[in-house]
Amino acid sequence: MTKVVSFINLKGGVGKTTIAVNVAASLAQNFNKRVLIIDLDPQTNATVSLIPQEEWIYRDKESKQTLFHMFNDLINEEQNFDMRDAIIQGVSHINNLDLLPSSLGLVEIQDFIPDIDRKAFINHVDVLGNQLTPILNNREYDYIIIDCPPNLGAITLNGITISDYYIIPTIPDILSKIGINLVLNRIRSFKRKKKTCNINLAGIIFSKVDYRTNLHNSTMQELRYSDLNDYVFKNELPQRISVSEAPMDNKPFITSPTARNKSDFYNIKQLIDNIAREFIYMTS
Ligand SMILES: Nc1ncnc2c1ncn2[C@@H]1O[C@H](COP(=O)(O)OP(=O)(O)O)[C@@H](O)[C@H]1O
Ligand SMILES: [Mg+2]
Repeated sequence: MTKVVSFINLKGGVGKTTIAVNVAASLAQNFNKRVLIIDLDPQTNATVSLIPQEEWIYRDKESKQTLFHMFNDLINEEQNFDMRDAIIQGVSHINNLDLLPSSLGLVEIQDFIPDIDRKAFINHVDVLGNQLTPILNNREYDYIIIDCPPNLGAITLNGITISDYYIIPTIPDILSKIGINLVLNRIRSFKRKKKTCNINLAGIIFSKVDYRTNLHNSTMQELRYSDLNDYVFKNELPQRISVSEAPMDNKPFITSPTARNKSDFYNIKQLIDNIAREFIYMTS
């Protein structure tokens, strides 16, 4: 069965996209899994971490095959989007790593997505799920990884609705504990409203960890001794310049030439693979 996993935190800048893209790349390259990344964030960070800007602009403006068009078709009675055409296969030269790209245009139409209920007679949170049904039924992927924006708006709920699991990437600081509980509560209340949604927490991954600060060390320690202990990943991603530079190549860390030239490349690559291995375990 395909496992659908959302990466979510209501805070931005906590490493959601970085972890989602790199776990996906590692699963495809080193664990021989068939992976689809869905970039639900209008900021398009996952998209431009995996394909060149020009390709993305062409697909958005010319061939009209981005998530913007999936929603826009239903809002404005157009017929541009085709899921099969929209999915880009083998991104960043990694076999088995496919991408459904996002679009900045989602910012402008997100407020009109709820109108789909009366315009197209489908629940506006089921649009993505309906489009993916053949792909899910055919079991074309081992994992579908959804990179969510930092909110639980209409676009994000399209991903949450079809997810089996969610991962909370977080920086281990004071606000993270509040942030984690906020996500847990909000997902819980969404599940109460949307009975078909069967999402469960797979885990919490610490990112951008600075081992020199007592705060990061003590927060990680505290969460590892809390009732969330079973969900906290044993491996974490440290704060490193090489990690933040990799997207310059439109590639994930493990295949980025910029990252490859850095002295900590093999060390970080190993950590990413370890996180991917834990991810497989936590979603099984
Ligand atoms: N482990 C890390 N080390 C250094 N910089 C990081 C790391 N993880 C993320 N970043 C940088 O921090 C910023 C926010 O990360 P991102 O993954 O985009 O977070 P989010 O998706 O939660 O907004 C980006 O500029 C990214 O390159
Ligand atoms: Mg992001």
